[in-house]
Amino acid sequence: MTGPTPQQLAQSGSLDALYRQLGPIRMGAGWAKPTPSLWPEPKKVFQPHAWSYAQAKGALDAAGRLINTELAERRNLILQNPAEGYATTRTIVAAYQMIMPGEKARSHRHTPNALRLVIDAEPGAYTVVNGERLAMMPGDVVLTPNWCWHGHGNDGRACAYWLDVLDVPLVQLLEPMFFEPHPDEFEAETAVPAASPMCFPWAQTKARLDAAASANGGVAEVALGEPGSPALDTMALSMIRLAAGQATAPHKLMANIVLGVVQGSGTTAVEGTALSWRRGDVIAVPSWREHVHRSDDGAVLFRVSDEPVMRKLGFLREGTPAH
Ligand SMILES: [Fe+2]
Repeated sequence: MTGPTPQQLAQSGSLDALYRQLGPIRMGAGWAKPTPSLWPEPKKVFQPHAWSYAQAKGALDAAGRLINTELAERRNLILQNPAEGYATTRTIVAAYQMIMPGEKARSHRHTPNALRLVIDAEPGAYTVVNGERLAMMPGDVVLTPNWCWHGHGNDGRACAYWLDVLDVPLVQLLEPMFFEPHPDEFEAETAVPAASPMCFPWAQTKARLDAAASANGGVAEVALGEPGSPALDTMALSMIRLAAGQATAPHKLMANIVLGVVQGSGTTAVEGTALSWRRGDVIAVPSWREHVHRSDDGAVLFRVSDEPVMRKLGFLREGTPAH
């Protein structure tokens, strides 16, 4: 035992004298905290924000000249929330990535769950997940859940661009971070499956959106992954289609949301902030923010949220829209 003795503490003549003795033994008086540890509603730390694919594409094209995949584990641009140095929202990080013709990105695996939305690619771009080669075409979503081996390649003639979405900030917070490079550097392809639970091809998603739109006449939304059991443990995925002139109902949810624009253009209003977007752009809607997506000409949005985490932990709440 170092620091003051129990007797010295017990004989403190004033609160100030007591506080001076508590500091060195790493105890804090709960009745005199400089800041409260409980508050009535979630603090709005992270900011709603939009990132431009056109700008990212320009920067990635420069990176294509300046850095290769032998030096970079991944050639990507991390979408940093203005409130933070790394994360896009509290639990999710998104990044644009580009791979050039003939390149391969080394195989590895990690505990963070990852997925990607393909933005621009020609036949020949692919991801190998646990030995299975999955094609990557625009609008496709490819999953690499916790501890799945994955690497990327591009046998095509054009650069391939996609949006990566990962739960790395959540894993950093909870600390179960493990990462391992593949022992062979590039994992061998053992199969080219016709269908895989790791891949949601755009053609199938589009057909499901068409069916959903004709069934309800409103905003069509389809989940990617089994209802109630997301393909990834920590992130729920869906595609939302807005017909021309349509808007989503005002929504306020205790979940962090990242959206990628698959098609079209529009605006997301987040509590007084209006974010304009077009194909390829990314939008962050932090938790507990009322928001509305609107499109004049029609659009498709890919939505990723941490709802499964909030639900499992008993924290998922829906707010009452103000209007
Ligand atoms: Fe990875």
